[in-house]
Amino acid sequence: MFLTISNVSKQYSNQNTVNQVLSDINITVNEGEFVSLLGPSGCGKSTLLSMVAGLTKPSSGEIMLQGNPITKPGKDRGMVFQQAALFPWLTVEENVMFPLKKEMDKKQAKDRAHHFLSMVQLSNFTNHSPHELSGGMQQRVAIARALAMDPTVLLMDEPFGALDEQTRSRLHVELEKIWLDTKKTILFVTHSIQESIKLSDRILVMGTRPGVILEDIKIDLPRPRTHSKEEVVALETKILKLLESEIEKVAREELAYASSR
Ligand SMILES: Nc1ncnc2c1ncn2[C@@H]1O[C@H](COP(=O)(O)OP(=O)(O)O)[C@@H](O)[C@H]1O
Ligand SMILES: [Mg+2]
Repeated sequence: MFLTISNVSKQYSNQNTVNQVLSDINITVNEGEFVSLLGPSGCGKSTLLSMVAGLTKPSSGEIMLQGNPITKPGKDRGMVFQQAALFPWLTVEENVMFPLKKEMDKKQAKDRAHHFLSMVQLSNFTNHSPHELSGGMQQRVAIARALAMDPTVLLMDEPFGALDEQTRSRLHVELEKIWLDTKKTILFVTHSIQESIKLSDRILVMGTRPGVILEDIKIDLPRPRTHSKEEVVALETKILKLLESEIEKVAREELAYASSR
């Protein structure tokens, strides 16, 4: 098995309360798959991704990548966050080269950086500063930087969450193309139903309090994908129903809590 998350739970405790964030999560991701974690805000998506990244430890259970347990961050896992986190004092090219420098000489790092910057359509911006770029372009630099390290898995935590709708759809098209070209395994966190249907082979719909996997939905639509097909609408409706009941559950609990005080 390629990536397996087995019986993973996570809780945070302070003096007198325990916050059960994730409960008994079991996930298998196959090599080359595009899998989304979809769920309401606060259901534990980022916590789960951060455990795969090795930045957070599970309270129990185990995560294995290609047969090795994940205990710390490693260059086999690339990460892209909602904010691009580029070094402002480095150029676009230098940002992508930065993690490569330990792996290869400068000339190789530069060639590699240019290859991936051209993949994200930024060949004309290699010598720009990050602050001269739009938010969408900055995210593309972050994607190029992660891909240039040739990770086994690419982990993306709401990478397009801060972008406007048009930029977002453009990047959906681009990411799908990159995925088709590179055949990377991608674990993608989002709370957008449309985004997850557009991009994923499988959507893991999450419930909340505690975070659980409610359903594993295979998206068998042909690629590259276009919008507004009947199947897409049917899928949207199905997932929305699942999530609505979760949001209602939270609202009921909050109401009960408020009236008990
Ligand atoms: N370091 C932490 N300490 C305590 N609680 C945390 C920590 N990180 C996350 N949480 C809690 O875990 C829950 C899930 O958070 P998160 O994984 O960020 O959800 P999501 O990404 O789905 O919005 C939240 O209730 C949050 O408050
Ligand atoms: Mg999050």
